[in-house]
Amino acid sequence: MRMIVDTDAGVDDVQAIMMALNHADTEIAAITCVTGNTHVDWVTRNVFAMLDVVGAGPIPVFRGAEQPLLPGTWTGEARVHGEDGLGNYTKRQPTARQLQDEPAALALVRMANEAPGELTLVTLGPLTNVALACRLDPEFPHKIARFVFMGGAELAMGNTNNLSAEFNVYCDPEAAAVVLDAFPEAEMLSWEATVRHPFTWEQYETLAAGTSRAAEFFRDTTGSAVQFLREQLHAPGFYIPDPLAMAAALEPSLVEESSFHYVAVETRGALTRGQTVVDHFGASGRSPNVHIIKAIDIATIYAMFEQMLS
Ligand code: RIB
Ligand code: CA
Repeated sequence: MRMIVDTDAGVDDVQAIMMALNHADTEIAAITCVTGNTHVDWVTRNVFAMLDVVGAGPIPVFRGAEQPLLPGTWTGEARVHGEDGLGNYTKRQPTARQLQDEPAALALVRMANEAPGELTLVTLGPLTNVALACRLDPEFPHKIARFVFMGGAELAMGNTNNLSAEFNVYCDPEAAAVVLDAFPEAEMLSWEATVRHPFTWEQYETLAAGTSRAAEFFRDTTGSAVQFLREQLHAPGFYIPDPLAMAAALEPSLVEESSFHYVAVETRGALTRGQTVVDHFGASGRSPNVHIIKAIDIATIYAMFEQMLS
């Protein structure tokens, strides 16, 4: 499978990309970067740092949108990801990798035209780049084989100041609205699915105790996320939103339950801007457009992490 990953790396983003790099049947054709957890210039550095740690090949990396579609609406997520977006990673080395000159949205359109129907698009951050691609080429969604995104809240249980909004959609609600309207089908890994499928803290500690370079990187980049999860959220386990979305993209058979609904995005609500509004009962008369992933095989995903970090 040939994949494009759009990311706001991001502590969990780099884990998801490492899963794809470690997957025998998958080639990452490109990584496009977007502002979200942190500014896109940190995102590109974080992607390079991870690619160097795992010794990845020369994967094209593109710089994308610095800001959401509307001005003045972006706030990062330093509480979880640190100011640098990688848990205040202190072991950065100089990199020989360089960004492609082409802006991410133009690269998305070009690559879809070069390989229509062949590419799987996995997005792990705000949908700004993908929305721009949809506006540059209205046929873009129809040239993408599969679109899987981490984002949204199935039951309005969000993780941002707008309580019903999940971070990736909250960062750029207009982009999410454009994208869900443009793609005939999408597969959504929500915040609720994330909360329902944590690693146990014992599993996290086992992974973080590994001695490989990848395990050391995992340990060195997850400190701020673990502190936030444990001390602020009192989470019962280690949340891995982006890796769950990536697992569904890499191995669709890991999805144990999903349901197909019409989903739209609230862009105006004073309390609810960024909420994904789900037609659970088919009341809208609108055709379903999103496969909402309800259950996923977290045990196998843990085994994928063990192998990836070994
Ligand atoms: O809400 C979780 C999502 O927001 C994840 O993709 C995380 O990396 C952040 O981007
Ligand atoms: Ca992310």
